[in-house]
Amino acid sequence: MVHAFSRPRSVPGPQVVAPDADHARPRPRPVADRGTRTRTALVTGASSGIGAAVARRLGDEDGWRLVLTGRDPVRLRQVADDTSATAFAADLTLPGADRQLTDFTTATSGPVDLLVAGAGVGWAGEFLDMPPHTIDEVFDINVLATLRLVRLLLPGMVAAGTGRVVLIGSLAGSVAVRDEAVYSAAKAAVGAFADSLRYELRGTGVGVTHVVPGVVDTPFFERRGTPYRRSRPRPVPPELVADAVRSAVVRGRDEVYVPSWLRLPCRVRGAAPGLYRRLAARFG
Ligand SMILES: NC(=O)c1ccc[n+]([C@@H]2O[C@H](COP(=O)([O-])OP(=O)(O)OC[C@H]3O[C@@H](n4cnc5c(N)ncnc54)[C@H](OP(=O)(O)O)[C@@H]3O)[C@@H](O)[C@H]2O)c1
Repeated sequence: MVHAFSRPRSVPGPQVVAPDADHARPRPRPVADRGTRTRTALVTGASSGIGAAVARRLGDEDGWRLVLTGRDPVRLRQVADDTSATAFAADLTLPGADRQLTDFTTATSGPVDLLVAGAGVGWAGEFLDMPPHTIDEVFDINVLATLRLVRLLLPGMVAAGTGRVVLIGSLAGSVAVRDEAVYSAAKAAVGAFADSLRYELRGTGVGVTHVVPGVVDTPFFERRGTPYRRSRPRPVPPELVADAVRSAVVRGRDEVYVPSWLRLPCRVRGAAPGLYRRLAARFG
């Protein structure tokens, strides 16, 4: 069953995704009752690509009670059915959606132990050609909605003295790629936020993981309207990112690149920025 965000009456703007606002109790998740302690994981962007792969990866193992969110209720329901998860369809950029999602999650599944923030969109092309409203769209979901959700969930984690926030960034944010100026800036913001927040949370028992994928074979490129045309890095399957997320959660890692060799260009850029810029300008 997919629950849906219903817009508060006072809030103007477009209606949300799913007409179905059935608030019946979610079915119990059998796997949740096995093992030592069942933890609650909230995955955004779970209706497609990386988020769906993360949901499936966590759903494969005992010990997780999953709450999944995305905009498309049909695709979201499919992933939720496959993973015995509870689903809540919402456009997280709409006012109040984040609060409804966190209230729903707490009410149905208890306090959140793990947030995997995968919801995001891209846009590619020259900045001078970018429609101004698209700048807002890219920042709204990749940065603002994500940070607002973290803001709502963190107090519970800090009070519990345990928890992890996993933020899906991008190589574009680490090295700034041509023709993705706004997306690169948005993902750089996510990376800076992750680093800064991690310092602040030191000693609280709550960790922050910044996951930095390169190119992943998902509908992301089709949806942004521009196919991926570079020969390198080659696209990797979303399951590789999901494995990296799972491993980072288990090991409490701060930052992971997927695939791991992609850390190299970031190191070169950090150590020799002039050289890196010349190479990037020449080879793209
Ligand atoms: N694919 C890549 O090469 C790549 C590389 C580096 C980083 N990333 C990042 O990885 C994350 C996942 O991307 P992906 O490749 O899995 O793309 P995807 O297949 O297009 O999935 C994007 C997900 O984000 C959700 N979403 C988008 N806007 C939303 C909104 N306003 N409110 C709620 N949910 C929203 C989508 O929901 P619906 O489908 O229901 O609309 C979908 O579940 C993104 O943050 C992306 O920037 C991707």
